[in-house]
Amino acid sequence: MRIVLVGPPGAGKGTQAAYLAKNLSIPHISTGDLFRANISQGTPLGQKAQEYMRAGQLVPDEVTIGMARDRMAEPDAAGGFLLDGFPRNLSQAEALDGILRETGTELDAVLDLEVPEDEVVKRIAGRRMCRNDSTHIFHVEYSPPKAEGVCDACGGELYQREDDSEDTVRKRLEVYHSETEPIIDYYKAQELVVTISALGRVDEVTRRAMEALGRSA
Ligand code: AP5
Ligand code: MG
Repeated sequence: MRIVLVGPPGAGKGTQAAYLAKNLSIPHISTGDLFRANISQGTPLGQKAQEYMRAGQLVPDEVTIGMARDRMAEPDAAGGFLLDGFPRNLSQAEALDGILRETGTELDAVLDLEVPEDEVVKRIAGRRMCRNDSTHIFHVEYSPPKAEGVCDACGGELYQREDDSEDTVRKRLEVYHSETEPIIDYYKAQELVVTISALGRVDEVTRRAMEALGRSA
């Protein structure tokens, strides 16, 4: 399956993607995680992305689209993928259509995670991420690690993302409304959008998502 996951910052895209990718046996491709990996490795691409991410703005399309295209061309993505955080504006959505056309493939669904703004603010404020593996995501209240500051899964150090400060989150939400939400209408016109509520326990949301995708969890 080829799926795009969309939803505001803090909706739970990364959290759900880890389970959905496993259930559907497809790789989880997160442009945010790819940028963060480049930043921690100090690559030129990471250096370029960092200033935009710090400001809560989108990294320019010429950087983002090439990176996403290269990742989708890797062998593990030949049979499908779950895109998290890409596309994020209309020109990226059009570029993705072009990439799919070139490879003679198409999207199966765009899964839209709906969460009220006050809830995403709470989710982001308490989020803790693992330095070793960006798919290990915790929350100080909703999904606390057994030992404070330590990842349950691998023992890695837990940290707070640099762009999770209050001001940057406000900017990211603005950018989501102005630049990313329009892609939902773009995909509605292609009859690809399935919208689910992302409120409730993580496993309940996964079950809802699998049902919406026509799969049982
Ligand atoms: P990115 O990393 O994609 O961030 P985002 O879209 O803002 O989303 P988040 O990762 O913040 O939230 P999430 O929905 O994954 O939530 P999570 O599962 O962690 O992008 C970061 C930046 O990179 C962008 O601002 C931009 O600069 C750049 N970028 C990335 N892609 C780009 C692109 N295509 N073009 C240009 N620039 C790009 O969950 C959040 C918290 O909630 C966690 O603590 C979790 O434990 C908790 N939680 C999850 N589910 C539940 C639940 N059901 N109940 C209670 N708590 C829950
Ligand atoms: Mg994420």
